[in-house]
Amino acid sequence: MTERPILEVRDLRKWFPLGSSLFSRHRQQVKAVDGISFSMRRGEILSLVGESGSGKTTVGRTVLRLTAPTSGSITFDGQDITRLSRRQLRPLRRRMQLVFQDPFASLNPRMTVERIVSTPLIIHDEPGGIAARRAKVEAALQLVGLLPHHATRYPHELSGGQRQRVGIARALILRPDFLVADEPVSALDVSIQAQVVNLLLELKDLLGLTILFVAHDLAVVGHISDRIAVMYLGRLVEVAETRVLFARPRHPYTEALLSAAPIPDPTVERQRIILAGDIPSPIDPPPGCAFSTRCRYATEACRAAVPPLREVAPGHLSACIRDDIALQAPRHGALTAPSKETCRCRLRSTGYRVTIACPRPSTSSSSAPASSASAPPTNW
Ligand SMILES: Nc1ncnc2c1ncn2[C@@H]1O[C@H](COP(=O)(O)OP(=O)(O)OP(=O)(O)O)[C@@H](O)[C@H]1O
Ligand code: SF4
Ligand SMILES: [Mg+2]
Repeated sequence: MTERPILEVRDLRKWFPLGSSLFSRHRQQVKAVDGISFSMRRGEILSLVGESGSGKTTVGRTVLRLTAPTSGSITFDGQDITRLSRRQLRPLRRRMQLVFQDPFASLNPRMTVERIVSTPLIIHDEPGGIAARRAKVEAALQLVGLLPHHATRYPHELSGGQRQRVGIARALILRPDFLVADEPVSALDVSIQAQVVNLLLELKDLLGLTILFVAHDLAVVGHISDRIAVMYLGRLVEVAETRVLFARPRHPYTEALLSAAPIPDPTVERQRIILAGDIPSPIDPPPGCAFSTRCRYATEACRAAVPPLREVAPGHLSACIRDDIALQAPRHGALTAPSKETCRCRLRSTGYRVTIACPRPSTSSSSAPASSASAPPTNW
């Protein structure tokens, strides 16, 4: 029997109405998310990638019900949460948490780390007094590789990586089983990105988390994700297992993103595909395939109707009508997703981007501990 998905999203739309003008008869809508469907297995990391403005954050916030969907449905662990009220959502909030992109902006500068991390416990009336709360904060800090003395610090007294660890500790303190990590490493220095990516991978294994990981850097998501969903202008254009997507992209937009991902080896020749112009406006998307205005394979047929996301191989979905084109895949190991059999999975920063360094977990060269534990702390 197949296991029930922890998250099921069906035909989700999130349109934002724009202020109406005196002279326009119709109110315009920003179609930030325009009919997407996907599901996630328990314990999976699904990465959502795409250019700025493609709707990734809106998907993350809508599936967490931080914003109400315009239409479609969201089912979390078998429960339809699409139309639940704030009060009905409250018990679910503990189970579904968000890690923000910018750790500095998301932490209150006037609060100590202890107060920041313990706030969700207070909001959710977690039983136990101050001592119990303090013990939970300490366990959460330990889990993310911080030390007890960090509890008394303020955000400005921490490094960027430490601040993001605090953000992760705050997201974990209620022991959720589902996390949306919205570009958790893109505001960090490249040398710190690998540490935080490592941390999320280890926590996923340690705590059995399911993570929707939002990013625009395919080089990072290649190492963290089980599957990747590529988004363009509010719609999914390709979904596949990471190794499959890297080995054989089936949508021209994915091909272009892969060609632009940095390869930390100057000797490797590459054929970079430059996408002309910016992503079109989600207020008035192009007819038919929204990517047709920038696609080097576009024909008249592409503009006739929106291509459906269809299965082009088992578990591999693509929204391109052209099966006759051979797309290029990255030719270098740095962009090849790790084999789960050989690598579970310590990463090393090359000083440029994260690459797989070692097939054996015991030989990590990461300069800081990811999580300090191989099992959750005893007081967790
Ligand atoms: N509250 C809002 N009101 C109106 N438009 C919005 C709102 N939130 C997002 N949008 C628009 O929806 C589109 C998608 O935004 P979103 O933040 O989801 O993109 P993104 O893929 O996360 O981009 P980035 O990579 O820059 O974070 C954008 O055009 C954005 O301007
Ligand atoms: S449907 Fe046409 S325009 Fe769209 S991605 Fe495929 S080839 Fe390009
Ligand atoms: Mg975003």
